[in-house]
Amino acid sequence: MPNRLKDKLAAGELITVMSAHNPLSARLAEEAGFDGIWASGFELSAAFGVPDASLLSFTQHLDMTRAIIEQTTIPMVADIDTGYGNAVNVLHVVCAYAEAGSAAVVMEDKLFPKDTSLLAGGRQELVRIEEFQGKIAAARDAGKAHDLIVIARTEALIADLGLDEALKRGTAYAEAGADLLLVHSKRKTPDEIVAFTEAWRGPIPLTIVPTAYPDLTEAKVRALAKIRIVIYANHAIRAAVGAMRDVFAQIRRDGGIHNVDKQIASVEDIFDLQRVAAMKTAEKKYLR
Ligand code: SPV
Ligand code: MG
Repeated sequence: MPNRLKDKLAAGELITVMSAHNPLSARLAEEAGFDGIWASGFELSAAFGVPDASLLSFTQHLDMTRAIIEQTTIPMVADIDTGYGNAVNVLHVVCAYAEAGSAAVVMEDKLFPKDTSLLAGGRQELVRIEEFQGKIAAARDAGKAHDLIVIARTEALIADLGLDEALKRGTAYAEAGADLLLVHSKRKTPDEIVAFTEAWRGPIPLTIVPTAYPDLTEAKVRALAKIRIVIYANHAIRAAVGAMRDVFAQIRRDGGIHNVDKQIASVEDIFDLQRVAAMKTAEKKYLR
């Protein structure tokens, strides 16, 4: 199957990717008009009620990624964290994500087991540059048969190692064969990412995750020219948490569901999202 994310990249448009933690949230992202789905490790960990610290197994994340791919038509950008170990683990893991139908994988240069990036005081340890180059080469080889896009992610800024280290790592990862470089920042303003982008002379385009610096709008990203993919990494789970908390609290306050009924999605809306109409068509055709 041709890689539709590659086609979108070739078309030169800024690609917007929305997080999902299950097929339903992914379907809503597709419905809203995003170009791709981010199978976020953070979101799925949160959905399981555990920290994003290499606690979920690779197959737990892969199974959900596959379930999402089966229920959506836009490209999947899979978060494979550190690749769950060394370059040999990466060979095994990337092959599985490619087989499942991912358009791209994002692999970060942190040590396994990792800690999540935006946690204040989080444990941010990076692997050696050469080791990560080997992991990128493994990811490339494992994904080649499926035309998989390999996005190398540097956590140098997250680990407070400075712009020069981030640029050095980015350049080394491009040399190792990454298709794009994801540079992550935890700063509350876009300044650090803007400075990195302006200084970036590498041969591959950039990907960003603007969670911490939401003021960097798509129009501003386009103006920076070198960024091709924006990942909204956790907005499905955060929207869901806010909505559930509000509705649950109101039901307790009201002593019933009478007031919230009109505010929340109707049961018919959920039937539509479940594609019940297609099942009914199938019933007519096949149930004899
Ligand atoms: C994720 O969504 O899992 C990410 C982005 O990797 S972050 O949580 O900011 O590390
Ligand atoms: Mg992640």
